Amino acid sequence: MIDIHCHILWGVDDGPQLPEETEELLNLAKAEGLTDIIATSHYSPYLEQVYEEKFEEAASVARSVGINLYSGCEYKLQDALLLKDRLITLAGSDFILVEITSGVLGDFVYNQVYDLELAGYQVILAHPERSFTPADLPKLRKLGDMGVYFQITAGSIAGKFGKQIQRFAFKLLKEGLCHFVASDAHDMRKRQFYLNLAERWFSRANNHNLNAWETLSRINPSVITEKSTVRKVMQVYLV
Ligand SMILES: [Fe+2]
Repeated sequence: MIDIHCHILWGVDDGPQLPEETEELLNLAKAEGLTDIIATSHYSPYLEQVYEEKFEEAASVARSVGINLYSGCEYKLQDALLLKDRLITLAGSDFILVEITSGVLGDFVYNQVYDLELAGYQVILAHPERSFTPADLPKLRKLGDMGVYFQITAGSIAGKFGKQIQRFAFKLLKEGLCHFVASDAHDMRKRQFYLNLAERWFSRANNHNLNAWETLSRINPSVITEKSTVRKVMQVYLV
């Protein structure tokens, strides 16, 4: 599996604080079956200053564990707009990971997202199931029509954020509003990967057919890590 959203660099955000914690998370990632991880720390001016050094250090630890680490970042929409000429994209592709935190999707959001698309980026919206509610579905559909991709968090599918978020995650999956499943892992306490657990929930909900899971957790993410210009991110629908 390939994880496109993970807070794995130490000492830069609310992810691990020490190299040992990063190593522990990487070992857990390996045990969960991950082969590739995109390091998507929260953007801050500090991260920008230290990114290369921190990334290289963590990539070397990842290599020792047998995991390929790729560069990336998780931007708030406003930051992505301000920095749009120098964003850290996912694995050097033209995909960027963006979160909209307000929980309110005003009409201005469409123009803002369009601005990013015009600048040449393909926008992936991080964890809509945690940022929005079923009342926002028409707006999320509209963003989907504009070419925005959606990343649902494994822990949400596994019920780690409560029943309401879990139900909404499955609703989005049934609507075809999910292109990637990722961990958004932060630590060994309450924000682990939960990919294997999510896979079991997914399998039960989808008549034990895991083709869609394979697309969301490996095939679509590989379009990013391989910077494929031939293959496209596929839309899947949970039955
Ligand atoms: Fe995140």
